[in-house]
Amino acid sequence: MQIIVTSTLEEISRHDLKAKTALVIDVLRATTTIITALANGAQKVVPFLEPEQALYYKKSNACVLGGERKSCIIPGFDCGNSPFEYTTEKIAGKTFVISTTNGTRALHAVREAEHIYLAALVNAGAVAKRIIAEKRDCVIVCSGTEGYFSSDDFLAAGAILYKAKEYGEVHTNDLGDVAQLWYEKHKDFLVHALKNCFHGRRLLNLGLEHDIDFCAKEDIFAVVPKYNVATNEITIA
Ligand code: MLT
Repeated sequence: MQIIVTSTLEEISRHDLKAKTALVIDVLRATTTIITALANGAQKVVPFLEPEQALYYKKSNACVLGGERKSCIIPGFDCGNSPFEYTTEKIAGKTFVISTTNGTRALHAVREAEHIYLAALVNAGAVAKRIIAEKRDCVIVCSGTEGYFSSDDFLAAGAILYKAKEYGEVHTNDLGDVAQLWYEKHKDFLVHALKNCFHGRRLLNLGLEHDIDFCAKEDIFAVVPKYNVATNEITIA
């Protein structure tokens, strides 16, 4: 099977996603936070591009509003985008509505795909096992930072490729080969690599070091969230 890695959201339009699986990655922090909330019992996650859409949804639906702009909580929201805020006490059995700068934009950008899974370092192994079992060609989508390449997402793309090759035969593109090398170079010091990327430095400047430490944890969750475009809901697949 083929697993293609893309560098930014802008590149996605060059790939035909029909009959393929899109893996959306936003290590710092959107997909890590969504995976954590579902692993901690959230009933479903509802992503919106714009905060106004999320605030409007809350008018007629019981939910927890979370997300960020410039990595800070959005006015009128209940929570920010830290995975630590989505404990079992806070989120179990509830609907988590989220809007972020890059992660929710990436979900929107891949809505043509046959299947859409959410990935990060925290569930890389579970995702690798799932896509190999399903034998469907994949496109790994790195959310990036405001349209720019992000090495944090690239690290998780490399981790998924590295682990997928342990489960089955995988063909990838040049960027996929480089992503795997990037992961192999940093796999024993993942947190170091995350703290040295552009978005990592931004989070450090905001005093969010503990979030980076958490996002660097590998394979702490076995859940594979799936985005249903028709219902605009993310649940555990
Ligand atoms: C995003 O989606 O843009 C990120 O998750 C931003 C952040 O959490 O700092």
